Amino acid sequence: MGRLYEKVAIITGSGAGIGKEIARTYAKEGAKVVIADFAEEAMNETVKELTEAGHEAYGVQVNVADNEQVEKMINESIEKYGRVDILVNNAGVGDNMQAAANVEDNTWNRVLDINLSGVMYGMRKIIPHFQENGGGTIVNMSSITGLTGGRGGLAYTAVKHAVVGMTKNVASQYGSENIRCNAIAPGSIETGFALPLKILLSRLRFCSPA
Ligand SMILES: NC(=O)c1ccc[n+]([C@@H]2O[C@H](COP(=O)([O-])OP(=O)(O)OC[C@H]3O[C@@H](n4cnc5c(N)ncnc54)[C@H](O)[C@@H]3O)[C@@H](O)[C@H]2O)c1
Repeated sequence: MGRLYEKVAIITGSGAGIGKEIARTYAKEGAKVVIADFAEEAMNETVKELTEAGHEAYGVQVNVADNEQVEKMINESIEKYGRVDILVNNAGVGDNMQAAANVEDNTWNRVLDINLSGVMYGMRKIIPHFQENGGGTIVNMSSITGLTGGRGGLAYTAVKHAVVGMTKNVASQYGSENIRCNAIAPGSIETGFALPLKILLSRLRFCSPA
């Protein structure tokens, strides 16, 4: 029996990259996984892969930057499986490494809406459900950029630090109610997210006069 046998987990941004790997791992450990992603095709492919492998998976298309859609994602998951035990707030986008002097308003707003408000919307909606059920687990995706100052652009660095702060706040506020809240802070991982960044950095090095 897997370590997550019969647990229900929503994983945002699980149509690709790190989220998809989390979904595969949770499913192998016996969890029923909700594949929640903005990209419908990637979402459907992940659901297909997991169900064909004999796992339980259900797809919900969501833009985590939209509170109504996040609420719908959680309601639909509870309707489908009767409960939710784990919420992984993984969906996120980059900021093209825009430094402070070059921050574009649309990039700033997009990164805050998806990477920060999206995490808050998910936690705000799931916590009362966890309280009713006697507990639950939240996993928020930060980054090494959330712990250091020099690994991303301004907006991405700001939100990943904020995710660490929100995680500590929720852990301390709700820990006594059996609600755990932790963050993950990975270094660079080659996904669709990191690849353009890698190309950008290699071009920067190539152009460097040094
Ligand atoms: N790849 C890395 O090097 C790295 C390092 C540290 C942290 N992270 C973080 O890990 C998380 C996942 O990154 P990844 O590398 O797997 O990225 P990825 O681009 O490979 O996958 C992200 C997934 O999130 C989905 N998504 C994007 N915006 C969304 C939205 N508004 N609503 C719902 N889904 C949305 C995408 O469709 C995609 O399937 C992000 O929060 C990222 O900041 C990544």
